[in-house]
Amino acid sequence: MSHLFAPFQLKDAVLRNRIAVPPMCQYSAIDGLVTDWHLPHYTALARGGAGLVIVEATGVSPEGRITPGCLGLWNDTQAEGLARIAAAIKAGGAVPGIQIGHAGRKASAHKPWEGDDHIAAGDPSGWATIAPSAIAYGGNLPQLPRAMTLDDIARVQADFVAAAVRARDAGFEWLELHFAHGYLAQSFFSAHSNQRDDAYGGDAQRRSRFLRETLAAVREVWPENLPLTARFGVIEYDGRDEETLQDSIELVKAFKQGGLDMLNVSVGFTIPDTSIPWGPAFLAPVSERVRRETGLPVASSWGFDSPANADEAVAQQQIDLAMIGRAHLSNPHWSYQAALQLKEAKPSWVLPAPYAHWLERYRIAQ
Ligand SMILES: Cc1cc2nc3c(=O)[nH]c(=O)nc-3n(C[C@H](O)[C@H](O)[C@H](O)COP(=O)(O)O)c2cc1C
Repeated sequence: MSHLFAPFQLKDAVLRNRIAVPPMCQYSAIDGLVTDWHLPHYTALARGGAGLVIVEATGVSPEGRITPGCLGLWNDTQAEGLARIAAAIKAGGAVPGIQIGHAGRKASAHKPWEGDDHIAAGDPSGWATIAPSAIAYGGNLPQLPRAMTLDDIARVQADFVAAAVRARDAGFEWLELHFAHGYLAQSFFSAHSNQRDDAYGGDAQRRSRFLRETLAAVREVWPENLPLTARFGVIEYDGRDEETLQDSIELVKAFKQGGLDMLNVSVGFTIPDTSIPWGPAFLAPVSERVRRETGLPVASSWGFDSPANADEAVAQQQIDLAMIGRAHLSNPHWSYQAALQLKEAKPSWVLPAPYAHWLERYRIAQ
Protein backbone atom coordinates (compact mmCIF):
# COMPACT_ATOMS: atom_id res chain seq x y z
CA MET A 1 0.00 0.00 0.00
CA SER A 2 1.19 3.51 -0.74
CA HIS A 3 1.69 5.96 2.10
CA LEU A 4 -1.08 8.18 0.74
CA PHE A 5 -3.65 5.43 1.15
CA ALA A 6 -2.74 4.46 4.69
CA PRO A 7 -5.63 5.31 7.03
CA PHE A 8 -5.21 8.18 9.44
CA GLN A 9 -6.79 8.68 12.83
CA LEU A 10 -6.96 11.92 14.75
CA LYS A 11 -8.95 11.68 17.98
CA ASP A 12 -12.13 9.80 17.01
CA ALA A 13 -12.01 10.86 13.37
CA VAL A 14 -10.86 7.96 11.20
CA LEU A 15 -9.89 8.90 7.65
CA ARG A 16 -9.77 6.16 5.03
CA ASN A 17 -6.62 7.72 3.56
CA ARG A 18 -4.30 10.75 3.78
CA ILE A 19 -6.14 12.70 1.08
CA ALA A 20 -8.14 15.75 2.12
CA VAL A 21 -10.14 18.28 0.18
CA PRO A 22 -9.14 21.65 1.61
CA PRO A 23 -11.69 24.40 2.12
CA MET A 24 -12.49 26.05 -1.20
CA CYS A 25 -14.96 28.94 -1.34
CA GLN A 26 -17.70 28.45 -3.87
CA TYR A 27 -19.04 32.02 -3.68
CA SER A 28 -22.48 30.54 -4.35
CA ALA A 29 -24.32 31.25 -1.10
CA ILE A 30 -27.08 33.81 -0.63
CA ASP A 31 -27.22 35.57 2.75
CA GLY A 32 -24.74 32.96 3.98
CA LEU A 33 -27.18 30.17 3.16
CA VAL A 34 -26.46 26.92 1.35
CA THR A 35 -27.94 26.91 -2.17
CA ASP A 36 -28.57 24.20 -4.79
CA TRP A 37 -24.92 24.51 -5.80
CA HIS A 38 -23.40 23.21 -2.61
CA LEU A 39 -24.95 19.81 -1.95
CA PRO A 40 -23.98 18.11 -5.23
CA HIS A 41 -20.57 19.79 -5.08
CA TYR A 42 -19.69 18.39 -1.65
CA THR A 43 -21.44 15.07 -2.27
CA ALA A 44 -19.32 14.46 -5.37
CA LEU A 45 -16.11 15.32 -3.53
CA ALA A 46 -16.90 12.88 -0.70
CA ARG A 47 -17.91 10.12 -3.08
CA GLY A 48 -14.67 10.71 -4.97
CA GLY A 49 -12.74 8.97 -2.21
CA ALA A 50 -10.91 11.58 -0.11
CA GLY A 51 -10.62 10.78 3.59
CA LEU A 52 -11.63 14.28 4.67
CA VAL A 53 -13.69 16.98 3.00
CA ILE A 54 -13.53 20.42 4.61
CA VAL A 55 -16.35 22.80 3.75
CA GLU A 56 -15.21 26.21 2.53
CA ALA A 57 -14.45 29.27 4.68
CA THR A 58 -17.72 29.98 6.46
CA GLY A 59 -18.22 33.39 8.04
CA VAL A 60 -18.86 33.58 11.77
CA SER A 61 -20.74 36.85 11.19
CA PRO A 62 -22.12 38.74 8.17
CA GLU A 63 -19.17 41.14 8.13
CA GLY A 64 -16.76 38.18 8.45
CA ARG A 65 -17.57 36.84 4.98
CA ILE A 66 -15.04 37.40 2.22
CA THR A 67 -17.73 38.09 -0.38
CA PRO A 68 -21.54 38.32 -0.37
CA GLY A 69 -21.48 34.79 -1.87
CA CYS A 70 -19.72 33.16 1.08
CA LEU A 71 -21.38 30.72 3.45
CA GLY A 72 -22.22 31.77 6.99
CA LEU A 73 -22.86 30.11 10.30
CA TRP A 74 -24.32 32.89 12.43
CA ASN A 75 -27.91 31.63 12.40
CA ASP A 76 -29.81 28.36 12.72
CA THR A 77 -31.19 28.38 9.16
CA GLN A 78 -27.64 28.43 7.84
CA ALA A 79 -26.81 25.55 10.20
CA GLU A 80 -29.72 23.48 8.80
CA GLY A 81 -28.34 23.72 5.27
CA LEU A 82 -24.85 22.88 6.47
CA ALA A 83 -26.19 19.88 8.41
CA ARG A 84 -27.37 18.42 5.09
CA ILE A 85 -23.89 18.89 3.68
CA ALA A 86 -22.23 17.27 6.71
CA ALA A 87 -24.56 14.26 6.37
CA ALA A 88 -23.88 13.99 2.63
CA ILE A 89 -20.10 14.07 3.14
CA LYS A 90 -20.37 11.38 5.79
CA ALA A 91 -22.62 9.24 3.59
CA GLY A 92 -19.96 9.56 0.88
CA GLY A 93 -17.45 7.94 3.22
CA ALA A 94 -15.40 11.02 4.16
CA VAL A 95 -15.08 12.76 7.50
CA PRO A 96 -17.11 16.00 7.34
CA GLY A 97 -15.09 19.08 8.25
CA ILE A 98 -15.75 22.80 8.11
CA GLN A 99 -13.58 25.90 8.24
CA ILE A 100 -14.93 28.89 10.16
CA GLY A 101 -13.43 32.32 9.89
CA HIS A 102 -13.59 36.08 9.77
CA ALA A 103 -12.16 37.87 6.75
CA GLY A 104 -11.23 41.10 8.58
CA ARG A 105 -9.92 43.79 6.24
CA LYS A 106 -10.13 41.44 3.24
CA ALA A 107 -13.92 41.17 3.63
CA SER A 108 -16.54 42.86 1.46
CA ALA A 109 -14.92 41.82 -1.81
CA HIS A 110 -16.37 40.91 -5.17
CA LYS A 111 -16.34 37.24 -6.17
CA PRO A 112 -13.08 36.32 -7.94
CA TRP A 113 -14.73 36.14 -11.34
CA GLU A 114 -16.39 39.52 -10.75
CA GLY A 115 -13.14 41.33 -10.00
CA ASP A 116 -11.82 39.96 -6.67
CA ASP A 117 -11.50 43.56 -5.49
CA HIS A 118 -13.23 45.50 -2.73
CA ILE A 119 -16.86 46.41 -3.30
CA ALA A 120 -16.96 50.19 -3.73
CA ALA A 121 -17.99 52.35 -0.77
CA GLY A 122 -21.68 53.18 -1.06
CA ASP A 123 -22.53 49.98 -2.95
CA PRO A 124 -25.23 48.35 -0.78
CA SER A 125 -23.85 44.85 -1.45
CA GLY A 126 -20.69 45.72 0.52
CA TRP A 127 -20.01 46.56 4.16
CA ALA A 128 -17.52 48.31 6.45
CA THR A 129 -14.54 46.16 7.43
CA ILE A 130 -12.73 45.75 10.75
CA ALA A 131 -9.13 44.79 11.56
CA PRO A 132 -6.60 45.01 14.40
CA SER A 133 -5.40 48.39 13.10
CA ALA A 134 -6.72 50.90 10.58
CA ILE A 135 -4.30 49.76 7.87
CA ALA A 136 -5.57 48.75 4.42
CA TYR A 137 -4.32 45.56 2.75
CA GLY A 138 -3.60 47.50 -0.44
CA GLY A 139 -3.44 46.24 -4.00
CA ASN A 140 -6.91 45.17 -5.11
CA LEU A 141 -8.24 45.52 -1.55
CA PRO A 142 -7.73 49.20 -0.67
CA GLN A 143 -10.65 49.72 1.76
CA LEU A 144 -9.47 51.18 5.06
CA PRO A 145 -10.73 49.02 7.93
CA ARG A 146 -11.83 50.33 11.31
CA ALA A 147 -9.48 49.41 14.16
CA MET A 148 -11.28 46.99 16.48
CA THR A 149 -12.20 47.99 20.00
CA LEU A 150 -11.87 45.52 22.87
CA ASP A 151 -15.64 45.02 22.61
CA ASP A 152 -15.27 44.15 18.90
CA ILE A 153 -12.62 41.58 19.81
CA ALA A 154 -14.83 39.98 22.45
CA ARG A 155 -17.80 39.93 20.05
CA VAL A 156 -15.85 38.29 17.22
CA GLN A 157 -14.50 35.66 19.62
CA ALA A 158 -18.04 34.98 20.82
CA ASP A 159 -19.08 34.66 17.15
CA PHE A 160 -16.37 32.00 16.65
CA VAL A 161 -17.69 30.09 19.66
CA ALA A 162 -21.31 30.31 18.48
CA ALA A 163 -20.32 29.13 15.00
CA ALA A 164 -18.34 26.23 16.48
CA VAL A 165 -21.38 25.17 18.50
CA ARG A 166 -23.57 25.29 15.39
CA ALA A 167 -20.96 23.32 13.40
CA ARG A 168 -20.83 20.69 16.15
CA ASP A 169 -24.63 20.44 16.30
CA ALA A 170 -24.84 20.28 12.50
CA GLY A 171 -22.81 17.06 12.54
CA PHE A 172 -19.36 18.22 11.54
CA GLU A 173 -16.63 16.04 13.01
CA TRP A 174 -13.59 18.17 12.19
CA LEU A 175 -13.29 21.90 12.82
CA GLU A 176 -10.70 24.13 11.19
CA LEU A 177 -10.24 27.67 12.48
CA HIS A 178 -9.26 30.00 9.67
CA PHE A 179 -6.23 31.75 11.12
CA ALA A 180 -4.53 32.16 7.72
CA HIS A 181 -4.40 34.05 4.44
CA GLY A 182 -4.37 37.61 5.73
CA TYR A 183 -7.86 37.35 7.16
CA LEU A 184 -8.68 38.65 10.62
CA ALA A 185 -6.70 36.24 12.83
CA GLN A 186 -3.63 36.22 10.57
CA SER A 187 -3.74 40.02 10.45
CA PHE A 188 -3.57 40.11 14.26
CA PHE A 189 -0.42 37.96 14.15
CA SER A 190 1.39 39.96 11.48
CA ALA A 191 3.25 43.16 12.35
CA HIS A 192 2.40 44.35 8.83
CA SER A 193 -1.24 44.69 9.82
CA ASN A 194 -1.20 44.88 13.62
CA GLN A 195 0.22 48.04 15.13
CA ARG A 196 -1.92 48.09 18.27
CA ASP A 197 -0.46 49.38 21.49
CA ASP A 198 -2.73 47.41 23.81
CA ALA A 199 -2.57 43.77 24.99
CA TYR A 200 -3.37 42.54 21.44
CA GLY A 201 -0.41 44.23 19.75
CA GLY A 202 3.34 44.62 20.19
CA ASP A 203 5.71 41.65 20.20
CA ALA A 204 4.80 38.28 18.65
CA GLN A 205 3.46 36.99 21.96
CA ARG A 206 1.01 39.90 22.22
CA ARG A 207 0.08 39.83 18.53
CA SER A 208 -0.83 36.16 18.92
CA ARG A 209 -3.16 36.79 21.84
CA PHE A 210 -6.32 37.05 19.70
CA LEU A 211 -5.54 33.67 18.11
CA ARG A 212 -4.69 31.92 21.40
CA GLU A 213 -7.79 33.27 23.12
CA THR A 214 -10.05 32.33 20.23
CA LEU A 215 -8.66 28.80 20.19
CA ALA A 216 -9.15 28.50 23.96
CA ALA A 217 -12.74 29.73 23.76
CA VAL A 218 -13.61 27.33 20.93
CA ARG A 219 -11.85 24.45 22.68
CA GLU A 220 -14.34 24.87 25.55
CA VAL A 221 -17.30 24.04 23.29
CA TRP A 222 -15.80 21.76 20.67
CA PRO A 223 -16.03 18.07 21.70
CA GLU A 224 -12.83 16.75 23.24
CA ASN A 225 -13.01 13.57 21.13
CA LEU A 226 -13.13 15.41 17.78
CA PRO A 227 -10.23 17.14 15.98
CA LEU A 228 -9.88 20.86 16.44
CA THR A 229 -7.45 22.22 13.86
CA ALA A 230 -6.37 25.57 12.48
CA ARG A 231 -5.08 26.84 9.19
CA PHE A 232 -2.30 29.31 9.78
CA GLY A 233 0.19 31.06 7.55
CA VAL A 234 3.55 30.33 9.15
CA ILE A 235 5.54 32.29 6.58
CA GLU A 236 4.96 35.36 4.40
CA TYR A 237 7.86 35.21 1.91
CA ASP A 238 8.42 38.90 2.61
CA GLY A 239 12.17 38.71 3.28
CA ARG A 240 11.73 38.22 7.05
CA ASP A 241 10.99 34.53 6.75
CA GLU A 242 13.25 32.98 9.40
CA GLU A 243 12.01 35.39 12.07
CA THR A 244 8.36 34.83 11.09
CA LEU A 245 8.84 31.06 11.03
CA GLN A 246 10.41 31.05 14.49
CA ASP A 247 7.57 33.20 15.89
CA SER A 248 5.04 30.98 14.13
CA ILE A 249 6.54 27.80 15.52
CA GLU A 250 6.43 29.22 19.05
CA LEU A 251 2.77 30.05 18.50
CA VAL A 252 2.00 26.59 17.13
CA LYS A 253 3.58 25.11 20.26
CA ALA A 254 1.23 27.30 22.31
CA PHE A 255 -1.69 26.13 20.13
CA LYS A 256 -0.69 22.56 20.87
CA GLN A 257 -0.67 23.27 24.61
CA GLY A 258 -4.05 24.92 24.15
CA GLY A 259 -5.59 21.78 22.69
CA LEU A 260 -5.05 22.12 18.95
CA ASP A 261 -4.89 18.70 17.29
CA MET A 262 -3.37 19.50 13.90
CA LEU A 263 -2.07 22.48 11.93
CA ASN A 264 -2.93 23.10 8.30
CA VAL A 265 0.30 24.82 7.27
CA SER A 266 -0.12 27.68 4.85
CA VAL A 267 1.18 31.09 3.75
CA GLY A 268 0.32 34.36 5.53
CA PHE A 269 -0.84 36.40 2.53
CA THR A 270 -0.93 39.45 4.78
CA ILE A 271 0.57 41.85 2.25
CA PRO A 272 0.35 41.89 -1.55
CA ASP A 273 4.09 42.40 -2.11
CA THR A 274 5.77 39.01 -1.53
CA SER A 275 8.02 36.56 -3.37
CA ILE A 276 6.28 33.22 -2.98
CA PRO A 277 8.27 30.35 -4.52
CA TRP A 278 5.28 28.74 -6.22
CA GLY A 279 5.99 25.24 -7.43
CA PRO A 280 5.04 21.64 -6.78
CA ALA A 281 4.76 20.93 -3.05
CA PHE A 282 6.72 24.11 -2.25
CA LEU A 283 5.43 24.18 1.33
CA ALA A 284 6.48 20.60 2.09
CA PRO A 285 9.86 21.50 3.68
CA VAL A 286 8.22 24.25 5.76
CA SER A 287 5.51 21.81 6.88
CA GLU A 288 8.16 19.26 7.80
CA ARG A 289 9.93 21.80 10.01
CA VAL A 290 6.71 22.83 11.75
CA ARG A 291 5.84 19.17 12.29
CA ARG A 292 9.29 18.29 13.60
CA GLU A 293 9.74 21.30 15.89
CA THR A 294 6.22 21.30 17.35
CA GLY A 295 5.41 17.58 17.39
CA LEU A 296 1.96 18.42 16.04
CA PRO A 297 0.51 16.52 13.05
CA VAL A 298 0.33 18.75 9.98
CA ALA A 299 -1.57 19.03 6.75
CA SER A 300 -0.61 21.20 3.84
CA SER A 301 -1.62 22.09 0.33
CA TRP A 302 -0.40 24.11 -2.63
CA GLY A 303 0.68 21.87 -5.43
CA PHE A 304 0.33 18.31 -4.16
CA ASP A 305 -1.64 17.63 -7.31
CA SER A 306 0.48 14.76 -8.49
CA PRO A 307 -0.23 11.57 -6.54
CA ALA A 308 3.50 10.81 -6.58
CA ASN A 309 4.52 14.04 -4.84
CA ALA A 310 1.67 13.81 -2.32
CA ASP A 311 2.68 10.22 -1.54
CA GLU A 312 6.33 11.21 -1.27
CA ALA A 313 5.57 14.06 1.17
CA VAL A 314 3.62 11.67 3.41
CA ALA A 315 6.33 9.01 3.10
CA GLN A 316 9.03 11.55 4.06
CA GLN A 317 6.95 12.60 7.09
CA GLN A 318 6.73 16.16 5.80
CA ILE A 319 2.96 16.06 6.14
CA ASP A 320 0.38 13.77 7.69
CA LEU A 321 -2.40 14.79 5.30
CA ALA A 322 -2.19 16.05 1.73
CA MET A 323 -4.72 18.75 0.96
CA ILE A 324 -5.58 18.45 -2.71
CA GLY A 325 -7.51 21.51 -3.86
CA ARG A 326 -7.86 22.57 -7.48
CA ALA A 327 -7.12 19.08 -8.76
CA HIS A 328 -10.36 18.03 -7.05
CA LEU A 329 -12.28 20.75 -8.89
CA SER A 330 -10.90 19.31 -12.09
CA ASN A 331 -11.69 15.74 -11.07
CA PRO A 332 -13.72 14.93 -7.95
CA HIS A 333 -12.49 11.34 -8.38
CA TRP A 334 -8.87 12.41 -7.94
CA SER A 335 -8.47 9.79 -5.20
CA TYR A 336 -9.47 7.01 -7.55
CA GLN A 337 -7.04 8.23 -10.21
CA ALA A 338 -4.36 8.46 -7.52
CA ALA A 339 -5.12 4.90 -6.38
CA LEU A 340 -4.68 3.70 -9.96
CA GLN A 341 -1.42 5.58 -10.41
CA LEU A 342 0.00 4.44 -7.09
CA LYS A 343 -0.98 0.87 -7.97
CA GLU A 344 -3.23 0.25 -5.02
CA ALA A 345 -4.40 -3.37 -4.96
CA LYS A 346 -8.09 -2.40 -5.21
CA PRO A 347 -8.12 1.16 -6.54
CA SER A 348 -11.88 1.33 -6.94
CA TRP A 349 -12.35 0.66 -3.23
CA VAL A 350 -11.99 4.35 -2.62
CA LEU A 351 -15.33 4.78 -4.42
CA PRO A 352 -18.86 3.84 -3.34
CA ALA A 353 -20.14 0.47 -4.55
CA PRO A 354 -22.33 1.76 -7.43
CA TYR A 355 -19.14 3.09 -9.05
CA ALA A 356 -16.59 0.72 -7.56
CA HIS A 357 -18.27 -2.46 -8.77
CA TRP A 358 -17.86 -1.43 -12.41
CA LEU A 359 -14.56 0.34 -12.25
CA GLU A 360 -12.75 -2.52 -10.56
CA ARG A 361 -13.28 -4.54 -13.74
CA TYR A 362 -12.93 -1.77 -16.27
CA ARG A 363 -10.06 0.43 -15.25
CA ILE A 364 -10.55 3.45 -17.41
CA ALA A 365 -7.92 5.94 -18.50
CA GLN A 366 -5.56 7.06 -15.76
C1 LIG B 1 -11.67 28.18 -5.57
C2 LIG B 1 -10.79 28.22 -4.36
C3 LIG B 1 -11.31 28.61 -3.14
C4 LIG B 1 -10.52 28.59 -1.98
N1 LIG B 1 -11.09 28.86 -0.77
C5 LIG B 1 -10.38 28.69 0.36
C6 LIG B 1 -11.03 28.75 1.61
O1 LIG B 1 -12.25 28.88 1.71
N2 LIG B 1 -10.25 28.61 2.72
C7 LIG B 1 -8.90 28.38 2.64
O2 LIG B 1 -8.24 28.26 3.67
N3 LIG B 1 -8.28 28.27 1.44
C8 LIG B 1 -8.99 28.39 0.31
N4 LIG B 1 -8.40 28.19 -0.90
C9 LIG B 1 -7.03 27.66 -0.95
C10 LIG B 1 -7.09 26.13 -1.05
O3 LIG B 1 -7.59 25.57 0.15
C11 LIG B 1 -5.72 25.50 -1.36
O4 LIG B 1 -4.83 25.82 -0.34
C12 LIG B 1 -5.16 26.01 -2.68
O5 LIG B 1 -6.09 25.80 -3.72
C13 LIG B 1 -3.83 25.33 -2.99
O6 LIG B 1 -3.96 23.94 -3.08
P1 LIG B 1 -3.94 23.24 -4.51
O7 LIG B 1 -2.62 23.57 -5.15
O8 LIG B 1 -4.08 21.77 -4.24
O9 LIG B 1 -5.10 23.78 -5.29
C14 LIG B 1 -9.16 28.24 -2.07
C15 LIG B 1 -8.62 27.90 -3.31
C16 LIG B 1 -9.42 27.86 -4.44
C17 LIG B 1 -8.82 27.44 -5.74
